[in-house]
Amino acid sequence: MLEPKLMKGYNKMRRTVIAGNWKMNMTPSQAKAFIEELRPMVEGMDKCDIVLCVPYVDIAVAVEAAKGSNIHIGAENVHFAKSGAYTGEISADMLNEIGCEYVVIGHSERRQYFAETDETVNLRTKAALAAGLKVILCLGEVKEERLAGITDEVVSMQTKLDLAGVSAEELKNVIIAYEPVWAIGTGLTATPEQADETCGVIRATIAKLYGAEAADEITIQYGGSMNDANAAELLSKANVDGGLIGGASLKTDKFTTIVKAAN
Ligand code: PGA
Repeated sequence: MLEPKLMKGYNKMRRTVIAGNWKMNMTPSQAKAFIEELRPMVEGMDKCDIVLCVPYVDIAVAVEAAKGSNIHIGAENVHFAKSGAYTGEISADMLNEIGCEYVVIGHSERRQYFAETDETVNLRTKAALAAGLKVILCLGEVKEERLAGITDEVVSMQTKLDLAGVSAEELKNVIIAYEPVWAIGTGLTATPEQADETCGVIRATIAKLYGAEAADEITIQYGGSMNDANAAELLSKANVDGGLIGGASLKTDKFTTIVKAAN
């Protein structure tokens, strides 16, 4: 069994990643203004990677506004086919061509409202990785599962299914975001201990699937009402290597405070 503290202790390579998930917020002009304001605020904060995952139509503008800064741009979803008759969908090649580096896959809102399953999450993940995108793979238990005491089994199964067929080499471009569904947008946050423990379960699952070194290297974020007030404590935990932030990523000052906590 892996000892989470030791793992963090000897590892010098694991990157902390602070990622905003704007969801369906911000028009292109608002995105431009936001990034122009944020750039000087996070300048030089290089102890973590900073990512903003934004609506598709904002990506090109965001990439341009972030050029030359330490802010990286991601999408919030991607389709699994290369191209074809999928009206309304966006491919990994399209994202690549406009300078998008990251993509969120399997967010609980996609799973809840848009019939996303572990199978489609897995297909999207493989397509994104094949195209050279970095994937922020979201998973986490719903409230009933936490109450029933099966959180560990749920996240471990999701990890397995969502990464099926992903090679060890490809895994280097995967970040896992542990997001307990009951904590998303609710103001309820997992306690730092809960976040640490469940991120640890995911890491142990990665160890089983890919070996101890891969488990030690993979960045595992916590997401779910992370904000400027609770980020420092959550990020201090051995198994929490960053955050995926919804609401608090829509305000430059709050988001900057979180980035600062990671630095
Ligand atoms: P929240 O969203 O920070 O608003 O809870 C997190 C997420 O959905 O990634």
